[in-house]
Amino acid sequence: MRLLKTGAFVRAAQSARIAVSRAPVRAALAQSRWSSSQTAAAAAAETQHPFPDQSVEISREVDPTKTAPESKDQQEQERFEKKSKELNHGKRLVHENLSGVNILGKPYTFDNTTNVSDSILRLVGRNLYSTPDHPIAITRALVESCFPKPTYNHFTVADPVVTTHENFDVLGFPKDHPGRSRTDTYYINSTHLLRTHTSAHQHAAFQSLVNDEATGFTICADVYRRDSIDKSHFPVFHQMEGARVWDLPVSADSRYEAQLRRKEIIAKDVDEVPQTRIVVEDQATKFLKGSNPTQLEHDAEEVRLVVAHLKRSLEYLVDGVFEASRQMIPASQKEKMGPLQARWIEAYFPFTSPSFELEVLWNGEWLELLGCGVVQQPILNNAGLRNSIGWAWGIGIERIAMLLFGIPDIRLLWSEDKRFLQQFKQGTVTRFEPFSKYPPCYKDIAFWINSSPAAASPIGAESSSGVAAAAGGDATKASPTETQPAAFHENDIMEVVRDVAGSLVEDVQLVDEFVHPRTGRKSLCYRINYRSLERTLTNEEVNDLHNQVAAKMKSLFDIELR
Ligand code: DAH
Repeated sequence: MRLLKTGAFVRAAQSARIAVSRAPVRAALAQSRWSSSQTAAAAAAETQHPFPDQSVEISREVDPTKTAPESKDQQEQERFEKKSKELNHGKRLVHENLSGVNILGKPYTFDNTTNVSDSILRLVGRNLYSTPDHPIAITRALVESCFPKPTYNHFTVADPVVTTHENFDVLGFPKDHPGRSRTDTYYINSTHLLRTHTSAHQHAAFQSLVNDEATGFTICADVYRRDSIDKSHFPVFHQMEGARVWDLPVSADSRYEAQLRRKEIIAKDVDEVPQTRIVVEDQATKFLKGSNPTQLEHDAEEVRLVVAHLKRSLEYLVDGVFEASRQMIPASQKEKMGPLQARWIEAYFPFTSPSFELEVLWNGEWLELLGCGVVQQPILNNAGLRNSIGWAWGIGIERIAMLLFGIPDIRLLWSEDKRFLQQFKQGTVTRFEPFSKYPPCYKDIAFWINSSPAAASPIGAESSSGVAAAAGGDATKASPTETQPAAFHENDIMEVVRDVAGSLVEDVQLVDEFVHPRTGRKSLCYRINYRSLERTLTNEEVNDLHNQVAAKMKSLFDIELR
């Protein structure tokens, strides 16, 4: 499971798959967070569009519909595509030997890697980050306002389908990185998935900087992770990515000269980032080989300057965001609270080195806020920025939005209830007023597991039988979308519950687990907490939902209900 407690919000261990830390696994920023007060200038500066065409398409080397481009299947494939394009978003199509789905107007065929479910596809395209009065959009604007134009371009990317290349390969994820696992990631097919982080667009965004006036960017988008169900985790959430680069000045006589000049420029830029009132402890000042190294091709002094700029820029962001939330606190109480405390710690990400995380002391607990670091040089080189050096960061929006607006349950952010939506106004941070708390209704589901679940393996990893391994060992089975019973993985029950009951479930918890002393069989019991945010659920309704969950579990997985 994924919850390592370190703050008012739990760290998601699942995020460790993206942000695997070196020493003790420092789970990453899954649903990282921030806040904002939107300025008119920031709103005007926002660019509501994907990257320029060339950039967006750059890593789309594979046609989404052709998972196995066998020429004999081509006609069938073309007919499938034609039919699928006529469908609305989220509609599935079974045509001749192919089955698939239309996602935002594009057809995709399924294969035995597919594990995306209808309940997830229904959430694609809500674009909360561009719904002006929504807390997610207000938070995004606050973050963007800390990284102003013309230095930074502000991007959003509406289509969440990316290639495995964009999400993992181009960022240097090893083939066996757990982040690639089908138990954690929603695959459309073996080449396409729902992005698990905004870093999937880094490559395209860096490309957009070539010959551009801007030297940095932010990206905001919805991201998708198979995950457990509780008040601070939802399978779709929002992230922002930021980056900044410095090119070598062209006018210099030699590369050495150019680098000297560039160092002066970065040093000046560091001084220009406004100082904050935050009290910062820096536990990551040494970039040591083995733990958090400088990259071989980088000049140590220059890295120090880039890191100084990165840290200052993010402290400025934290200050802006948390000040926005502290504005609601009465002055007398604020005085007692003293200045905001933050700390830098070492981290590990495949796409940066050295890498860091920033934590903030909030309500007496250290809250992990963001990950960042010096961009791996091959990423810049591949994007046409061979002569540049730069930094990048990534944060989750929900955590900050929930904190800023006092939103107690992440599901509220997806609510279409006017009592929620009408409380917020573009450009302002206000406290959420709970409209009601409806009663919960617990139901347990207990079952024997027939085949023992193996550790989740990434899809790139081959099992000894030559079949790509997934939860339970056989990638062709471990999906709720398929008909063969599959070995059970914890994220599977979350998926089934979500499919049946959607946001009528507040959380799902493992309450009992034991191994039969004689047979060695394992029994699990999960407690499902049914509760609507909008009304009281009837007993019959909950019973019906629960029966559906049980039936689906029984038909999909190799389990025996108790
Ligand atoms: N993509 C990371 C995640 O989802 C967050 C992140 C960390 C982004 C470090 C970055 C970075 O750009 O430099 O956990």
